[in-house]
Amino acid sequence: MLKNRSVPTDVILPHITYQNVAAALGWLTNTFGFTEHYRYGGGGQVEGAQMHLSDAWIMLNRARPGRASAAQAGLQTQSLTVFVEDVDSHYARAKAAGARIVEDLHDTEYGERQYGAEDLEGHHWLFSRHARDVSPEEWGATVAGPLAMTNQIETVPAAASNAALYRALMEVVRNRMTNRAFAPCEIPREHFEMILEAARHAPSGANAQPWHYIVVTDPSAKASIAQCFLDEQQHRVRLRMGFPTPNYAGVKTAPGLIVVAVDFRFVRAFPVLDDGSDEDRLYRQNAERILLQSVAASTMSAHLAAAALGYAVWWITAIGQEDIQKKIKPLLGVPEELAIIDVMCFGPPLKASYKRWKRRLDQIVNWDRFNPENFMTAEQIAEWIKTRRHKVMYRDETNVD
Ligand SMILES: Cc1cc2nc3c(=O)[nH]c(=O)nc-3n(C[C@H](O)[C@H](O)[C@H](O)COP(=O)(O)O)c2cc1C
Repeated sequence: MLKNRSVPTDVILPHITYQNVAAALGWLTNTFGFTEHYRYGGGGQVEGAQMHLSDAWIMLNRARPGRASAAQAGLQTQSLTVFVEDVDSHYARAKAAGARIVEDLHDTEYGERQYGAEDLEGHHWLFSRHARDVSPEEWGATVAGPLAMTNQIETVPAAASNAALYRALMEVVRNRMTNRAFAPCEIPREHFEMILEAARHAPSGANAQPWHYIVVTDPSAKASIAQCFLDEQQHRVRLRMGFPTPNYAGVKTAPGLIVVAVDFRFVRAFPVLDDGSDEDRLYRQNAERILLQSVAASTMSAHLAAAALGYAVWWITAIGQEDIQKKIKPLLGVPEELAIIDVMCFGPPLKASYKRWKRRLDQIVNWDRFNPENFMTAEQIAEWIKTRRHKVMYRDETNVD
């Protein structure tokens, strides 16, 4: 999701009405420890304000006809719970500052240590800390269904959060699986943004971020892009390339399609001499690798984000060739200077994705010195391509030997 400095929270932002917003700003600061972010309103009148207590953000707005504070209305229609690390100190501070305590600090049967208080205009607040992990059934609630994974991550106690975050990350990493056929589905714009927000945070050489993402939603553009792949499939057959080219028909109906373009001119942002010398050529070669690694890092983040959202993904590079570039670039208005280097397709899988073969850890990890056992000769690689490549590309990991 895009970040907005005027609204730093992404989940919920309660609005609370006060007759005197300026007084509320002072009171909430002194009594509950909130910090003012900003206030607005003209002519000496504070119309509204934003405050936060750690990550708990609130808006304060001024009472007007049809909108009243609890004290004005003579009743409460809602209550706010704010989670604080040291609820005991918070309680002591609020009490000392004159908050009306309506529920003394205590431990609840549902695992919270909390107290209730009313503010200067009668709004009800709870301040709470998770004291125990209690299942809702234990105190008599009826649970509707299992918690979504993201909720589980967010409720992990701080001490366990590193391990839990790693597990959550690995869950996403392991479950990112290529699929080449998708079920029809409308991908919400927000999901495209969430996926590309992950791409945006990728590392890149010289922090150059030489990437551009083009979200393709127009069905006719999708069909034209898909046709390029299908043509390429046929072209390879004619060339007798011997590569087990996949069926690209699924591109046409991929619910999510993002074209990845790169600006090779950023090669100059990396260590190069830029004088056309032989030495420059060597540096340039490496600079191109830096550029491609950068784009791959960003694209991978996008793929993982799509996997985290539950989509099957498909990374397609088969369009790098000159002739295909010429067809696709005008279609999407991509400037001549840029190169389209891959396409990311994603969506709900038509058939369940399957886990492909991955080399064992000890086959890829070398400690201090390269392990000669991990080295493959040119003949072994040729044999691998001949006998195993098609299996590892298209079969389940349990079915390659
Ligand atoms: C750099 C790169 C290029 C790829 N190019 C293609 C491609 O052009 N066409 C295709 O069908 N799959 C392509 N793939 C997908 C791979 O075939 C797939 O990742 C691999 O078989 C491993 O399967 P997994 O993604 O399920 O782990 C590419 C993947 C990567 C990372």
